[in-house]
This record gives sequence, structure tokens and C-alpha cells, in this order.
Amino acid sequence: MEKSPLSSFLLLLLIPVLASCVEKQVYVVYFGEHSGEKTQHEIEENHHSYLSSVKESEEEARSSLLYSYKHSINGFAALLTLEEAEKLSGREEVVSVFTSQEYSLHTTRSWEFAGVEKLLNEFNANDKDDLLVKAKFGRDVIVGMLDSGVWPESYSLKDKGLGPIPKGWKGICQTGDQFNTSNCNRKIIGARYYVKGYEKYYGPLNRTQDYRSPRDKDGHGTHTASTVGGRRVHNVAALGGFARGTASGGAPLVRLAIYKVCWPTPKKGKEEGNSCFDADMLAGIDDAIQDGVDVLSISIGSYDATPFSKDSIAIGALHAVKNNIITACSAGNSGPASYSIRNTAPWILTVSASSLDRKFIAAVELGNGETLQGESISPYHLKRKLYPLVRAGQVVNPNVTKDLLDQCMPGSLSPEKAKGKIVFCLRGNGTRVGKGAEVKRAGGVGYILGNNKSLGEDVSVDCHLLPSIAVGCRNATKILKYIDSTKNATAYITPADTVIHGIPAPHMAGFTSVGPSPVSEAILKPDITAPGLNILAAWTEGDSPTKMDVDHRVVKYNFLSGTSMSCPHIAGAAALLRAIHPTWSSAAIRSALVTTAGILNNMGKPITDASGKEANPFLFGSGHFRPSKAADPGLVYDASYEDYLLHLCSIGYNLKNLTRNNSCPKNLPPPHNLNYPSVAIPKLNGTVVVKRIVTHVGSSRSIYFSSVKPPVGISVTISPPILYFNQYGEKKSFTIRVQAESTEGVGENAKNKYRFGWYIWRDSNGTYSVRSPIAVAFS
Ligand SMILES: *[C@@H]1O[C@H](CO)[C@@H](O)[C@H](O)[C@H]1NC(C)=O
Ligand SMILES: *[C@@H]1O[C@H](CO)[C@@H](O)[C@H](O)[C@H]1NC(C)=O
Ligand SMILES: *[C@@H]1O[C@H](CO)[C@@H](O)[C@H](O)[C@H]1NC(C)=O
Ligand SMILES: *[C@@H]1O[C@H](CO)[C@@H](O)[C@H](O)[C@H]1NC(C)=O
Ligand SMILES: *[C@@H]1O[C@H](CO)[C@@H](O)[C@H](O)[C@H]1NC(C)=O
Ligand SMILES: *[C@@H]1O[C@H](CO)[C@@H](O)[C@H](O)[C@H]1NC(C)=O
Ligand SMILES: *[C@@H]1O[C@H](CO)[C@@H](O)[C@H](O)[C@H]1NC(C)=O
Ligand SMILES: *[C@@H]1O[C@H](CO)[C@@H](O)[C@H](O)[C@H]1NC(C)=O
Ligand SMILES: *[C@@H]1O[C@H](CO)[C@@H](O)[C@H](O)[C@H]1NC(C)=O
Ligand SMILES: *[C@@H]1O[C@H](CO)[C@@H](O)[C@H](O)[C@H]1NC(C)=O
Ligand SMILES: *[C@@H]1O[C@H](CO)[C@@H](O)[C@H](O)[C@H]1NC(C)=O
Repeated sequence: MEKSPLSSFLLLLLIPVLASCVEKQVYVVYFGEHSGEKTQHEIEENHHSYLSSVKESEEEARSSLLYSYKHSINGFAALLTLEEAEKLSGREEVVSVFTSQEYSLHTTRSWEFAGVEKLLNEFNANDKDDLLVKAKFGRDVIVGMLDSGVWPESYSLKDKGLGPIPKGWKGICQTGDQFNTSNCNRKIIGARYYVKGYEKYYGPLNRTQDYRSPRDKDGHGTHTASTVGGRRVHNVAALGGFARGTASGGAPLVRLAIYKVCWPTPKKGKEEGNSCFDADMLAGIDDAIQDGVDVLSISIGSYDATPFSKDSIAIGALHAVKNNIITACSAGNSGPASYSIRNTAPWILTVSASSLDRKFIAAVELGNGETLQGESISPYHLKRKLYPLVRAGQVVNPNVTKDLLDQCMPGSLSPEKAKGKIVFCLRGNGTRVGKGAEVKRAGGVGYILGNNKSLGEDVSVDCHLLPSIAVGCRNATKILKYIDSTKNATAYITPADTVIHGIPAPHMAGFTSVGPSPVSEAILKPDITAPGLNILAAWTEGDSPTKMDVDHRVVKYNFLSGTSMSCPHIAGAAALLRAIHPTWSSAAIRSALVTTAGILNNMGKPITDASGKEANPFLFGSGHFRPSKAADPGLVYDASYEDYLLHLCSIGYNLKNLTRNNSCPKNLPPPHNLNYPSVAIPKLNGTVVVKRIVTHVGSSRSIYFSSVKPPVGISVTISPPILYFNQYGEKKSFTIRVQAESTEGVGENAKNKYRFGWYIWRDSNGTYSVRSPIAVAFS
């Protein structure tokens, strides 16, 4: 990604003026694995000698080094000129050299709080307790959170009743601003922070904006940590007395290790996003592997699609998988465009976002008698009467440009014109909470937030600073039509009601990023979907729920939306599976989650996208997670670290780009033969035969029968069609023959256009159903 001229300028100012004023940047110099038994000191000296060889003095070499990665990952991060970086990338031992890019957390840019009235998430299903008991609530599993830190005082993160820290834990409790060793306990067993890459780019952290310690000012890290492993907290009261109930994470007794790598972006509102740099993330992951985590939860993604060889999350997760650590990552919030998905390496569990069956239903009553529903968690209510209703464009200052008329951007509304009115604002630019704050600033009494077309029908709730409601695109259009049809439109916003078992649910969130992978289409991504819309979890008390400067409220729980929120659901589920099956590989656990996922909503119909159209695997992967079923999947598709290397060879990576192993075998398998629980064929020309191996993980002798729902115009044949297993752990191979049935419609129009299907292995007793999605496009 090109840095803007401004940031280069900034960078120059930050660097001590050197004899030759050449622009420097933080680069990661990556050596792959460690070879031989070296002490940490020797490794550091080795890194140092590389650095010295391109620097003019020993002192300069020392001062330019940010991190030496010396546990699983071998490499360092340092301040280099382009010329120095190029010199290093030519060295024999060096696997790759890349600039430390800026990533961001995967929340949608809005935050709000209402109340806790129900268990958090899908784990609330009836059979949840059975799963949790089997998994001992995740008690001895350690989940590493790469995020914005933690608010350790949260009720959800107390360690009451937890046993000793699991043996083998090697992590530390790093102290800093308002964080000392007493803030770690048997729940938060480790905490560290990584800020050097950030500070080299942006200058010293502004310590009124964040704590220079693992403490979370932002809230995001506390939210994701409590979604993975929050304790059950009963009778939590909420602002405005909105609701009351129990909060709980997915694996309530899991241990948490905090790796703070994300920091506030200078010169941006805190509500607008944060910055997480490659150099810092790689250091965090290297430590997490060494510390002994079992699962990594990473709700962070790059802005641009990055090859695996230059992506610290992909590189870090590859080292994690070598150590049998499961890495779950968010897919991103840049939907609905194709190829918008991130974190698509095949050794990562890539998670998209869908809705819960819970809604906060409110309505707009229009002056013409029409009532249109939407959602709201506002604790503030209007007096029951009709108020003048305007669209923002009718009450803006004259200097507002045409394309932003209805956007309610800061400073755009005229208090003379907006006072006492309900103001309709359209989504598109700015933040949802920011628009609400603008309506309030201008003296509006109520706020209607309408989805634009691309956002469809799902709405993210926000407890704005005034009475409010968010409406889907269709109802937004109706409200606008009404406003435009009359001289004096009026409306009233009703208070909200919490409705559970709302139908149809789940549906895909409008924001969720969409496949295929922009980096490699040979693997179907995302893998799975989990709740990410209007998710309630613990919050920081170091800032307000909206993080806006005008908001002075302090809350303990808050609503957020994003794949940032769905990722920790899957990390929590993976932690429970790890507890039940401690010897399973990370690939086996991924397979269990993927092959048991559901594709129907609670009306028994296919899961839809935000606009009500049938969704496909590029939105939800294999479907919505069902952790209870995943605990006992029947068959799994296993894969090893070496299998991933071989796959990298077959998708054209010189292995040397990612590991020190530079020997890709001569006869490479085709990319689709990675033993993955789904099938993707991006360029079908004639016939492709896909190989798979399943491992029997049921206890009894079993017979499995295959069945297929082929993609339109394609025939799919499984051979052999029946598999016999006698004992646990037995492996059986089969092939999937994928053939274009007719050339009809296979003209230019059909090119690159994906079609979808699936195949299933079902056992003879009707206990197991092992489903794999298929995505095929013609060449
Ligand atoms: C940590 O800080 C708290 C609050 O300031 C204090 O009560 C406690 O004694 C400190 N613990 C240690 C180990 O310094
Ligand atoms: C740090 O942040 C505070 C609060 O946002 C701001 O007032 C102050 O100017 C900032 N300091 C610097 C050096 O940017
Ligand atoms: C729009 O309003 C109608 C009428 O109240 C309601 O049935 C529908 O569910 C609303 N749409 C959404 C997406 O809430
Ligand atoms: C537009 O005008 C308003 C009021 O006249 C002013 O407060 C605001 O700063 C102006 N905005 C811009 C971008 O000039
Ligand atoms: C709709 O709003 C979203 C979210 O703000 C924005 O990303 C998208 O570009 C908008 N689409 C259009 C067509 O304005
Ligand atoms: C507003 O959003 C649209 C669509 O996302 C974008 O094209 C446009 O540049 C944005 N305008 C401003 C002023 O941010
Ligand atoms: C508009 O409102 C005014 C005063 O509230 C009322 O006298 C008038 O009849 C209304 N006009 C229409 C078209 O409803
Ligand atoms: C290098 O990778 C290939 C492909 O996976 C594997 O067969 C070979 O054993 C590896 N060599 C080493 C030294 O790890
Ligand atoms: C692999 O590394 C070589 C140089 O060693 C480079 O030319 C190539 O672009 C890299 N490939 C990828 C996919 O990163
Ligand atoms: C399931 O079916 C197999 C073979 O048909 C049989 O041997 C086994 O006992 C059955 N298991 C159960 C739990 O019914
Ligand atoms: C498909 O395969 C045929 C025969 O192998 C070849 O002639 C043709 O060029 C291929 N088409 C494409 C689009 O690759």
C-alpha cells in the first residue's frame, strides 16, 4: 500500500536527522524458522550482524532494531532505507523483506450500549450445557487475544473459583500505565503490549488517548476477550434500565492471554478506527506461541489484499499451526463486494458475520398513518406525539456539498432549521454514532438512520445520545418518499422492545466481507459464519461507549458489530473442541466446525444475505457454526504443516517466500488436493479429480454414504460412494470428480462466474452428517 505523502513527511520528522536524510521505514526481515539449536542471545546477535552489515555503524544498527523475533518466528523488525532493505532481501538466509504495514480492527465503525437481557450468543442453545460440561467449560485451554488490550476489572473477567494456571504456561504479566502484576490472575494469565512499530510510524503514543500497557482504553479488546471467555455474570443492569439479564462468553472458564497490538490512530476520532502494525503483531504472535497458547483470536485485517509472504498474520499463523495452535481470524467488514475478504490463508479459520435471532424492535409512526419498523436500543424516549420530520438535506447549512446532503456529517446541520425536529440521516459516509451526535448538536429531538442500498435490510443498533431508530433500506426509502411527498411531514419514534426468536435468523450481515480470496482462489473462503451483528459483551471503563469526545457515559457492557465479533465466537468454540479433543490437530478442529455448520435459518429456509436473497458460500463458507455438533463430527479432514507448505508450492509460491525450506518437490499436487473440508475450483476446463482423505473419529464401526448437490451445469461424482470404518482413527481416501456437464452457457458470460453445491457423508445410523461446500467457476 502506498503511504500518503503526508505520512512520509511525518515519518521524516520523526527520524533523528541523519547525515543523509533518506527516508526510512520499518521493515520486517523474515528468516522463516530457526535452524539448529541456538540460544536466544545467539539469535539476536545473528540478527544484529545482518543489520550491521548494511548500517554504517554498530550504534546505528543497535538503535534501528525494533524487535528480534526469536521464538518460533525467526526475523527482526528494523528501521531501514529502501536500499538497505533491498540489500538484505538479496541475502541467502533471508526469506522475505516487507514494510510493516498498518492494519485495523474489524469492527464496523460504530459502537453502542444498551443492556444485557440474554446470554450473549449461539452457545445459549439448549444443548449448550452438555457441550460445556464435556469441555469442562474450556478450563485448561489458553486463548491468546491479539487486540487492543483488556479492562481487567470487568466482572466478566474475574478469576473467582478458577484452579491453578495450566502447567507449561510461560507467559508474563507486563506492567505499564495503570497495569501491574495484580491485574493478571487465574483468568487473565498473561498480558503484554507491543507499540514500537506504531511509535516509529506515528511518534510517541499520546498517553491521554491510550495506556502504554496491556490496559484497554478502546474497548474492542475487552469485548472480544469476554466473547471468547467471559464468565457468566447474572443480573447485569443497564443504562436507562433498558434490560437486565445474564452475560456469558463462549468458553467461560478458558484462560486468556492478552497481546495488545492495536493503538489509536492519531488525528482521527477514536470512534473511527485504530492502527495495528505488522512489526508489532509478529512480535505478539511469536510470544504467544512461546508462551503456550492453544488458540489465537485475531480480529484484525489489512486494508489491501496482501500475499501470504508479506502478511504478518498469515506468517504468524503458519508458525502457530506448526505448533498446533488454532488461529481464528475475522474475514473483514468490506462487503458486499467480491474479493473483499481478508485473512484467507488455508491454515487460518476465516470467519464471516451473521445475525442473532434477537432484535430490538422499534417503529417510526408517520403522519400519514403508516408504521415502519426498525431497531433501536435507545434508553431515551420521545413524548408521545407527532414531531416535524425532515430529511437532513432539508436542514443543512448552505455549504454542504450535494453528495453529502443527507449524510449528517459533523457541522453540516443548521440548528435554526433542525431544532425540535426528527431528522432522517442516510448511511454512507462518517460514523453512525457521529451522525446521531450531529443531530443532537443541531437541536434535533429524534434521529432516524437509514441504510443505503448496499447495506440492505440489516441494521446495527446504537444507543445514540438522543431518541433514535435505525431502519433497513426498504423502510428508509418509504420514509424518504413520504417526506418528499408532503410539505409538513411528521413522525413519532416508539420505544424499543427486545424480541427473541426473531425470524428469519440467522441472516448474513450486510457488511461481512465476501470471497473468493483475492490472494488464492484455490481454497474456498470464508470457512464459516458466526454472530457478528449487535453483539453484547464487556467494555472498557476507560472511555465512553461511543468513544466520541462529546459522550461522557461510562458502561460495563456494550454492543458492537463486525466480523471482529464473530471471530471470537469461533475462537471460543475451537477452545471447547480443544478441551474435548486435546490431541486433535488444528486442521481437524477446523474440519469439525466446518463440516457440521448449518445452512438453514430458523424457518427451515436457506440462510439469506442482508437483502433477503439466498446467500452462498462466499458469504458464509460452509454455514453457521454449531459447536455442539462439531464436538462429535464423525469424520474429519486432517492436514499437517507440511501439507500447507506443499499447497503453497502448488499455488506458485516459491516455498522460500514463506519458510526456510526452499525445496518444492518436482511433482506438485494440484492446489485443490490440499485436504480441506471444502472444495474450490476456480478455473474448471473439462474435468478435475479432487482427492480427499477422511479420518474416522466416531467410536463404533460405521458405514458412510455419500450424496451430492452439484453446482448448476456440473456433475459431481464421489468414488467410492460408500466408506467402511472399523475403528477410531482409521483413514479412507476418496475422489470427487467434477465435470462440466454441458458447454451450454459456458461462453464468455459463464467465465469466472461461480456456482455452488456440496457433498455430504452420512453414516448409516443417521447420527452424522459431514458436509463440504463446493465452489466452481469455468476457465
Ligand atoms: C497494583 O495496583 C493496585 C492499585 O493501584 C494496588 O492496590 C496494588 O497493590 C498493586 N499491586 C502490585 C503488585 O504492585
Ligand atoms: C493527546 O490527546 C489529548 C486528548 O485527546 C489532546 O488534548 C492532546 O493535544 C494530545 N497531545 C498531543 C501531544 O497530541
Ligand atoms: C419495515 O417495516 C415493516 C412494517 O412495519 C416491517 O414489517 C418490516 O419488518 C420492516 N423492515 C425491517 C427490515 O425491519
Ligand atoms: C459550513 O458552514 C457552517 C455554518 O455556517 C460552519 O459551521 C461549518 O464549519 C462550515 N463547514 C465547512 C466545511 O466549511
Ligand atoms: C453505504 O454505506 C456504507 C457504510 O457507510 C458505505 O461503505 C457504502 O459505500 C455506501 N454505499 C453507497 C452506494 O453509498
Ligand atoms: C462519501 O462516500 C462515498 C461512497 O462511499 C464516497 O465515494 C465519497 O468519496 C465519500 N465522500 C466523502 C466526502 O467522504
Ligand atoms: C401543514 O401544517 C400546518 C400547521 O401545522 C397545517 O395548518 C396544514 O394544514 C398542514 N398542511 C398539510 C398539507 O398537511
Ligand atoms: C520442505 O517442504 C516439502 C514440501 O512440503 C517437504 O516435502 C520437505 O520435507 C520439506 N523439507 C524440510 C527440510 O523441511
Ligand atoms: C517470492 O520471492 C521472489 C524473490 O525471491 C519474488 O520475486 C516473488 O515475487 C515472490 N513471490 C511471492 C508470491 O511472494
Ligand atoms: C451404527 O451402524 C454400524 C454399522 O451399520 C453398527 O455396527 C453400529 O453398531 C451402529 N452404531 C450405533 C450407535 O447405533
Ligand atoms: C481447455 O482445455 C482445452 C483442451 O485441453 C484447451 O484447448 C483449451 O484452451 C482450454 N481452455 C481454456 C479456457 O483454458
